[in-house]
Amino acid sequence: GRVAVLMGGTSSEREVSLDSGRNVLEALQARGVDAHAVDGIPALVDALVHGQFDRVFNILHGNRGGGEDGVLQGLLEALEVPYTGCGVLASALTMDKIRTKQVWLSAGLPTPKFVRLSPGEDVRAAALQLGLPVFVKPSSEGSSVGVARVTDDAGIEEAIRVARAYGGEMLMEQMVVGDELTVGILGDVALPSIRIVPKGEWYDYNAKYIADDTQYLCPGLQGDDEIAIRQLALDAFRAAGCSSWGRVDVMRDRASGALLLLEVNTAPGMTSHSLVPKAAGQRGVSFQELCWRILEQTLP
Ligand code: DAL
Ligand code: MG
Repeated sequence: GRVAVLMGGTSSEREVSLDSGRNVLEALQARGVDAHAVDGIPALVDALVHGQFDRVFNILHGNRGGGEDGVLQGLLEALEVPYTGCGVLASALTMDKIRTKQVWLSAGLPTPKFVRLSPGEDVRAAALQLGLPVFVKPSSEGSSVGVARVTDDAGIEEAIRVARAYGGEMLMEQMVVGDELTVGILGDVALPSIRIVPKGEWYDYNAKYIADDTQYLCPGLQGDDEIAIRQLALDAFRAAGCSSWGRVDVMRDRASGALLLLEVNTAPGMTSHSLVPKAAGQRGVSFQELCWRILEQTLP
């Protein structure tokens, strides 16, 4: 049947999604799939009403018109149209970093200390409690959009002003001094981890998509450490109710070696700079094969 490759949308990650989407579309077409690009949820609804598609490969990133927050998933469930990626609950949950961390903590899974920045919160007291440096993040954005690292008292207000511009809730999270790692999940399998070594201070939007000097090491860890991070990523994915495919971001504390969970991405990037394709490649799974395996999960 015909496949809609859903991309673009209206979230802050629109451009990233268009880039991911074009790659997925090309790969599926090369594989012989009758796949077509659809930009955004309204255009998809229109096409589905006219019976143009049998299933959806969702590569929209982000919330609010992005397809990563459960809204699209609920719509497609109601229309009984199969789609790639997580279901309603897991998508909605993992779009929200604060509540994802709460679920992990209640499941006994490790995540950096944090404070939810409610209106009227004493942000200096929160920073003092966590200890600088901290990250200030919008709870429900992706690709590090709106995220700032705060190293001194003077930077707190500015970081909050930036994060607040995205409208939703915010969190302040303890900065883990150590390595930044990520684990792609494909079906029931954790792919080899990737250790990300950005040229600058941290893996921000520029290091993710623009700079060509970010280094990627895969597998990111060795021996038992690599086994442990893959298991933790799978546990975290399952505790959040996720399925199909995704990517779990993890920090490794340099001093203690402890692994700490940051977040799950349920429609991870598929750009030429992106991580899941690199990890799949390390396992001998080509980009084309990766796209096929994700789509295949929607087939009866
Ligand atoms: N949010 C971006 C697309 C990612 O996690 O890859
Ligand atoms: Mg993310």
